Amino acid sequence: MKKILVIGSLNVDMVVNVPHMPVAGETILAGNMELVPGGKGANQAYAAGRLGAQVTMFGAVGDDSYSDIEKKSLASVGVDTSHLLVRKENSTGLAWISVNSEGDNSIVVIQGANATLTESDIAAHEDLLRDCDILLCQLEIPLKTVIYAAKRAKEFGKTVILDPAPVPKEFPEELFSYIDVIKPNEKEAAQLLGEPVTNYEEASDKLRSSGVKNVLITLGPKGAYINSESEGKHLIPVRQVPVVDTTAAGDSFTAALAVRLAEGSSLVQAVRYANEVAAIVVTRKGAQTSIPDASEVSFDN
Ligand code: RIB
Repeated sequence: MKKILVIGSLNVDMVVNVPHMPVAGETILAGNMELVPGGKGANQAYAAGRLGAQVTMFGAVGDDSYSDIEKKSLASVGVDTSHLLVRKENSTGLAWISVNSEGDNSIVVIQGANATLTESDIAAHEDLLRDCDILLCQLEIPLKTVIYAAKRAKEFGKTVILDPAPVPKEFPEELFSYIDVIKPNEKEAAQLLGEPVTNYEEASDKLRSSGVKNVLITLGPKGAYINSESEGKHLIPVRQVPVVDTTAAGDSFTAALAVRLAEGSSLVQAVRYANEVAAIVVTRKGAQTSIPDASEVSFDN
């Protein structure tokens, strides 16, 4: 079985349901707060593990009960967490998530230990990069660390998939050259381009001109747009479902894509599968708590 390595963030999510997103200066009332295992990196590792892949998670956590929540959740789906670094002086990452009545979320990430992951940490664990087939990265850890990891993975001939979330103020051009597949959502694509996305073909062409061979723009209920050197341009629709909470939909999409690519599917087939996984995730509450296992994904390619 091919191996997926996720290098990225681990956060425990503090989730509140709100009637609407508060605006500046507004106080609103919410009910209970729930603690849910999350973090873009950990969500991707969890989803790939739950969908049946062999997965290792690399990142940094604090020496606290939040890290136990993350490790326990990842271990429950067979993800190898034995290489996680423990920072005594930092807390595990946390995320404050408000979910409104339409299921949309707004997230503030308290980076904690995630912010301490360095290039030297990656260099000291280079065997993980050598050992994997696919590297999944997101941007909730320092950019320099992601650039270094992606560069080394490419040097070892691995497939690198980047979920560019959250998009930094200045996206480093160099990173594009190490990526095989980039998967922004529509908002992130606009941030990367510095202009609104009005036409998917044009936007993805512009992202392709940075040197990335495969661009996938996820479009929520409209599905996903593929612009690929080898597989062409396609809008792949997604099954329409009642949305409860969109948290981790993008993470699950990326993980499902990696799982199918690892199994030898084409990009188009992998996106169809990833769309279906994300369609299930948005019907359920929370991050890792919303992710289905492979048997729940009825999918006919
Ligand atoms: O993508 C969803 C995730 O973003 C949440 O789980 C939260 O931890 C933030 O990292």
